[in-house]
Amino acid sequence: MPSLQSLRVLFITSEVYPLCKTGGLGDVSAALPAALRTLQTDVRLLLPGYPQVLAGVKYKSKIADFSSLAHFPPASLLSARLSLNKAEHIPVFVIDCPGLYCRDGGPYMDEYGRDWPDNALRFGLLSKIGAILSSDISPIAWRPHIAHCNDWQSGLTPAYLHFHNGKTAATIITIHNLAFQGCFPPGTVVQLGLPPESFDIHGAEYYGNLSFLKAGLYYADRLTTVSPNYAQEIQTEPLGFGLQGLLAARSDQLSGIINGIDTREWDSATDPHLAQNYNSKKLSDKAANKSALQQRMGLTADADIPLFGMVSRLSFQKGSDLLIQIAPQLIKIPAQLVVLGSDQAQLEHLLVMLAHSHPDRIAVRIGYEESLSHLIEAGADCFLMPSRFEPCGLNQMYSQRYGTPPVVHATGGLADTVVDCTPETLANNSASGFMFGTMSADSLLHAIQRAAATYHDKQTWQRLQKNGMAKDFSWQASAMAYQTLYKSLLK
Ligand code: ADP
Ligand code: GLC
Repeated sequence: MPSLQSLRVLFITSEVYPLCKTGGLGDVSAALPAALRTLQTDVRLLLPGYPQVLAGVKYKSKIADFSSLAHFPPASLLSARLSLNKAEHIPVFVIDCPGLYCRDGGPYMDEYGRDWPDNALRFGLLSKIGAILSSDISPIAWRPHIAHCNDWQSGLTPAYLHFHNGKTAATIITIHNLAFQGCFPPGTVVQLGLPPESFDIHGAEYYGNLSFLKAGLYYADRLTTVSPNYAQEIQTEPLGFGLQGLLAARSDQLSGIINGIDTREWDSATDPHLAQNYNSKKLSDKAANKSALQQRMGLTADADIPLFGMVSRLSFQKGSDLLIQIAPQLIKIPAQLVVLGSDQAQLEHLLVMLAHSHPDRIAVRIGYEESLSHLIEAGADCFLMPSRFEPCGLNQMYSQRYGTPPVVHATGGLADTVVDCTPETLANNSASGFMFGTMSADSLLHAIQRAAATYHDKQTWQRLQKNGMAKDFSWQASAMAYQTLYKSLLK
């Protein structure tokens, strides 16, 4: 068995912060490999060469050519470095394939929100090169012991490796979100150079289509997801999204490892995006961020009104529709609301209309703004995450760390990371937010009302804030859990 120093892991991902991020996968793909590297694991990333990746990495050098892979356009492999800060970097392999990746728009969709028509090829190539680098036909000397796949975009790597005759790395796939499965018409199987026998109910076939995610879940040696609670939830309806049978059948190989957060990026004492830095010893300094937020968003300046914040993809998953339903009652509490997000046009439109009708109490910013998201975490009194399902969720951890207790639906990683405020949990200093059990507008409103009432009880509120700020959300323990899992696959 290799020593930890020589344990080599290829971390295959379609996003990485700060170069390309549509959600938590980007954050995790930077912070988890960085944490593993401090534990002496040699983790390297494999990424598609989107323009912002090619522009953002340093010391690029070409190390391999892939000119005749199935029906893929010619590609080459670059070795490079991703700098996380002045002292830290991660080695990365970047797939340079202008025909597939060199275009404006997002990683999965064009600027109008339409899926790229060649997504099967874009992420088929990511999976394919992930498999080649993880096998004895790799053109490069660095050979991983483990190929760690993430979500559907790298789901075909375990399938390619399964059908490879020769030595291969062990495989893990981490499910960050089961709702996205990467399904394509059956003809894609041939186009991607997969053997016809992979297109089977015992394989990559899913209701007549090729499913990248199902392929990963079927062929990988181990399956993980990003919280223990979600690992249970996905083995049954409705959160199994059709894959509950396979997941339940593989429950011995499935585990939930809770995400951590980047505690340097998200530190209220040093965060450069804040109007004023603060810590749990001087919580009064947090107030300057609330007035800065109210001013920046055009809300009435009022230090005493509870201000609720939300930063989110505006999608069905995140429950923004329920928030829209109850917003008129929320502001009557009285309270203010700030929302930063984007995604579904109808939800965006409804939120903008609400802000127009109540400009002193509701402010909405449609778009993606890293800096404003930090100010909302610090400047809001309370953070909202009424997600219908949430594999892990990062914002509820950022907000607890920023002394901004979250209101969350009791699902997935939210239930694993937030402790509901009750007389008992206040007494044992574990209370850190507000949780509601039934996914309904009434339950959400009730939880928000509870939070607003508690906010006016300054002593209890500070207790909640301090409990949340004292929690350890760092990657340390979770990175060690991944390392233990990697080691178990070497035996
Ligand atoms: P998900 O990955 O399902 O979107 P997470 O809570 O795991 O949810 O991660 C979301 C990440 O994306 C967080 O870092 C959050 O701050 C960030 N984020 C989401 N929407 C926006 C936005 N509109 N502007 C800035 N950051 C955003
Ligand atoms: C997904 C999930 C989110 C999770 C993130 C990172 O996008 O929706 O809950 O935190 O991945 O694992």
